[in-house]
Amino acid sequence: MITRMLNSKPALATLAVSSIILGLLSACSPPSEPTSQIESVENTEQNDALVVYSSRNEHLIRPVFALFTEETGIEVEYATDKAGVLIERIKAEGKNTPADILITVDAGTLGYAAQQGIFQPLNSAAVVERVPAHLRDDSDYWTGLSLRARTIVYSTERVNPEQLSSYQDLGGSQWQGRVCLRTSKKVYNQSLVAMLIAEQGEVKAESIVSSWVANLAIPPTSNDTKLMEAILAGQCDVGIINTYYFGRLQEKQEKQEKQEKQENLSLALFWPNQADNENSGVHVNVAGVGILKHSKNAAQAKRLVEWLVSDSAQALFAGVNKEYPINDSVEINPQVASWGSFKQNPLPLSQAYVLQPAAVKLMDRAGYK
Ligand SMILES: [Fe+2]
Repeated sequence: MITRMLNSKPALATLAVSSIILGLLSACSPPSEPTSQIESVENTEQNDALVVYSSRNEHLIRPVFALFTEETGIEVEYATDKAGVLIERIKAEGKNTPADILITVDAGTLGYAAQQGIFQPLNSAAVVERVPAHLRDDSDYWTGLSLRARTIVYSTERVNPEQLSSYQDLGGSQWQGRVCLRTSKKVYNQSLVAMLIAEQGEVKAESIVSSWVANLAIPPTSNDTKLMEAILAGQCDVGIINTYYFGRLQEKQEKQEKQEKQENLSLALFWPNQADNENSGVHVNVAGVGILKHSKNAAQAKRLVEWLVSDSAQALFAGVNKEYPINDSVEINPQVASWGSFKQNPLPLSQAYVLQPAAVKLMDRAGYK
C-alpha cells in the first residue's frame, strides 16, 4: 500500500487550497449548481496539480503520469490502495476530497463506484470517439482505458488446442478432473459470470458454472499466477486467466531461460467463442477511470482522461501492464501482439456491475468457492 501523496506536503497543500476555495464557493454559489462550482474552481486552480486515487499499482501509473506532465506541464499527484478502500475514502472525504480522478480495474468495480455516486459524467466527445461503446459506461460515468482478456490457458504438453472451443466447453466430460479456476471471490470471475448471464441467461449460465466446478482438479486457486503454476505442476491442464498474468509469467520465464535456469514455458493462451455464427467472443474487461463528482479541477481532470485515451498515452498505459489499447488503432505491445488476435465479446461491460449480485449468488449455488 502506498500513501505517498496523502502524507506529502504538496497533497496537504492541495487539500488546504481546495478546502479554502470550496469554503468560498459554498458561500457564493448555491449548492444545487455543482457545474458552476466546478467552473469557478477551474478558473482559479488552472495550474494546480491533479490528484489521482488509483488501485492500479504505482509502477504502472508513474511512467504514464510522467509523460502527461512532460507533454502538458500539469503535475499529477496520486495515492494507491485497494479499490474498495479508495471508494470508501472518497465517500468519507465528500466535498473535501483532494482527489480529482479514480483509476481502478474491472467494469464491476467501476460500476460499483458509479453507483456510489462518486463520479460526474465524463461528457467527452474524445472519449466517445476513441473508446468503443461496449468498453465504457452507458451512463457516461466511467470509461475503459486499457483492455484485458479473461481467456483460456492450457498446458502445451497435455492439451491439443484443437480440443478447445469455448468457455462452456470446459464443463464437458473430456475435461473431467482437468480444470483449474481462480476463486469465485475475485471480481474478475464475478464479472466473467455476470457476462455469461448476460449472454446465455441465468439458467444456462448456472449449468455452465456447475459443469466447471464438477470438472475441477483442485480447489480454486487464490490468484491467476497460482492457477498457471498448478498447470505447470501437472495438477490441472486448463484454466481461465487474465492475459497480462500470462505475459508476466512469460517474461519471468524468458529471463530465467537466458540464465539457463528454466526450460520453455509450456503454457499457451486460447481464444474461446470465436465462431463467426455466434454473437459471442472472448470475455474482456478494462482498467478504467472516472472523474470525481467533487473534483475541484474537473477541466484538467477531463484533459487527463482524454489524454489517457489518446494515441500517445495508450501504447504506454496498456503496454506497461501487457494489456491491449482500448482502441485498436493503437499499436499493441509486441509481446502481447505475439499471442494473436481475437474477437471480443461485444456485450456492454456496464452489464458486469448490474449482473454481479446475480453472478455471486449463482456461483454460490453452483458450489464455486
Ligand atoms: Fe489483476
